Amino acid sequence: MSLSISFANATLPKTGSVILVHGKGAKLGAIGNQLDREAGGSISRAVKVKAYKGEKGSELSLLAPARGRDQIILCGVGAVNGMTHTDWEKLGGRAAALCGDGKSFCLVFEKGLLSKTEEAAARIALGAKLGDYKFTQYKTKEKKSTRTSRLIVASGATARAKSAYGELSAMADGVLLARDLVNEPANVLSPPEFAKRAKGLIRLGVKVEVLSEAQMKRLGMGALLGVGQGSAHPSQLVIMQWRGGAAKDKPLAFIGKGVCFDTGGISIKPSAGMEEMKGDMGGAAAVTGLMMSLAKRKAKVNVVGVIGLVENMPSSTAQRPGDIVTSMSGQTIEVLNTDAEGRLVLADALWYTQNRFKPRFMIDLATLTGAIMIALGQDYAGMFSNNDKLCAQLDAIGKAEGELVWRMPMNDNFDKMINTPNADMKNIGGRYAGSSTAAQFLERFVNKLPWVHLDIAGTAMGSPKSPISQSWASGFGVKLLDRFVRAHYE
Ligand code: BES
Ligand code: MN
Ligand code: ZN
Repeated sequence: MSLSISFANATLPKTGSVILVHGKGAKLGAIGNQLDREAGGSISRAVKVKAYKGEKGSELSLLAPARGRDQIILCGVGAVNGMTHTDWEKLGGRAAALCGDGKSFCLVFEKGLLSKTEEAAARIALGAKLGDYKFTQYKTKEKKSTRTSRLIVASGATARAKSAYGELSAMADGVLLARDLVNEPANVLSPPEFAKRAKGLIRLGVKVEVLSEAQMKRLGMGALLGVGQGSAHPSQLVIMQWRGGAAKDKPLAFIGKGVCFDTGGISIKPSAGMEEMKGDMGGAAAVTGLMMSLAKRKAKVNVVGVIGLVENMPSSTAQRPGDIVTSMSGQTIEVLNTDAEGRLVLADALWYTQNRFKPRFMIDLATLTGAIMIALGQDYAGMFSNNDKLCAQLDAIGKAEGELVWRMPMNDNFDKMINTPNADMKNIGGRYAGSSTAAQFLERFVNKLPWVHLDIAGTAMGSPKSPISQSWASGFGVKLLDRFVRAHYE
C-alpha cells in the first residue's frame, strides 16, 4: 500500500502520532511543551535520560506517551540553516519509513523553527514519496495492508508547500518510473515491452515514435542492429518528444543505453552476478523517467529523448568477435568484444539524434563500463564531455540534489587506443582507462555538438541505499537532469 502525503497548517492535531521537527538544543518550544504537558512530562524526562541534543539526524522516540498518541518522535535538524534540500528529503524518507505499513503520522515544525517553511515541507514530502518506493510487484504472498499509511506535513504554509510539491512530485513520478523499469526482470521487460511502456507517455502529451528493425536497417544503423541480432526480441529505437517551449527553440537531447539484458553475447560474461544485467537499460530508464517528469510538470522547454533498446544474447544469429559493422554515420567498427555493446547502440542513437533534431546539446546516460565503478565507486557517475559549461552546471546541480557526478579525462591518446588496421575503429581499447576509451568511442559519433556522457554503471543499480532510495534501482539521473533543465533551460 502506498503512502498518502498531504499538507496542513502548523498546529498540533489533538490525537494521533506526531513527528516533531525541531532545532538544536534540548529545550522544547511551544509545540514540544504542549506535547510534554499532555504526556505528563515524559518527553522532558526522556530528553534528560538520553541526553538528547537535537543534532541533525538525531531522533528521540516515545511509545504510547499519552491517551490517543501512539508515538511521539522528535527529529532534530541541528542548526536549521545547515539543512540542505537533500537533508530535508532524507528526513521525509525517514518519516515514510516510520509510517511503514498502515501507520499515520503528522509531522509538525516546532514553532519558530523556520520563517519560510514551504520549501522544506515540499522537500520532506518529496523525500517521503521517494523513500516509500518498494518493488513488490512479484511478492504474491506478502499480505497487502488494508489501511493506507498517511503522512501529513504540518508546516503552516499549506498552499505554498502544496504548490512547491506539485512540481517535485511530478519529478518523483519520473524517478519512480525509472526505478520500476530497472527493477523489472528481462523476461518481462524486452525491447518491445519497454517501447510499449514508453508509449504510455503519450497520454501525458509526449510524442512517441518507435522505429522497427526494418526502419533502422533502411537508416543504416548497423552498429545497433548488430547487438540485437542474436535475440529473439526485435530491437527498437524509441523517440520521445516534449514540446513545452517556443516552436522555434532547438530541443535539448537526452540519449539512453537500453540493453534490456546484457549476457555479453558470444564474449559471454561469467555467470556470477549476471542477473544484474537486467539493469543494463538504466540509461534508457532515466531518459524515459525524465520525459515523464517534464511532461507531468509541463516544463517550458523542448526536449527529445532517444533510447536504443536491444537484448545482447549469444545464439546462432549473434554477432561474432571480429565482425565488422557499418554504423549510420558511415564509419565502420570492428567488434572485438561483443560485451562492449552499449557503445555500439549509442553510436547510432547519437548520430540519429543530432542529424534529425540538430539539438542544442546531447547528454547520454549509459551503464557503460564496469571500469567506472573501479574508478569512482557507487556514489559518483562518471562524466565525460567536450564542454566545460555543461559540466560545471551538472556538477553544481548534482551536489545540490545529491546525484553526484565526477568529471573524467578524455584526450587524443585515449582516442588512438581504439584505432584498428581492419576498420575505422574497434569497440574496445585495452586494459587501461576502459571508461575513457569507451567515451572516446562515443565522441566519434558526435559532430562537434556540446555533449556529455554520463557513465551510470555504478549509480543506477545496487548503489548504496539511503532514506530516499531503498530499492535496488535508484532511478539515478532523473532528478539530476530534471533539476538541471529547470535551473538553466526553462
Ligand atoms: N553493461 C556492461 C557494463 C556494466 C558492468 C554495467 C557492471 C553495470 C555493472 C557493459 O556492456 C560491459 O560489459 N562492459 C565491458 C566492456 C569491456 C568488454 C571493454 C566491461 O565493463 O567489462
Ligand atoms: Mn556488455
Ligand atoms: Zn552492457
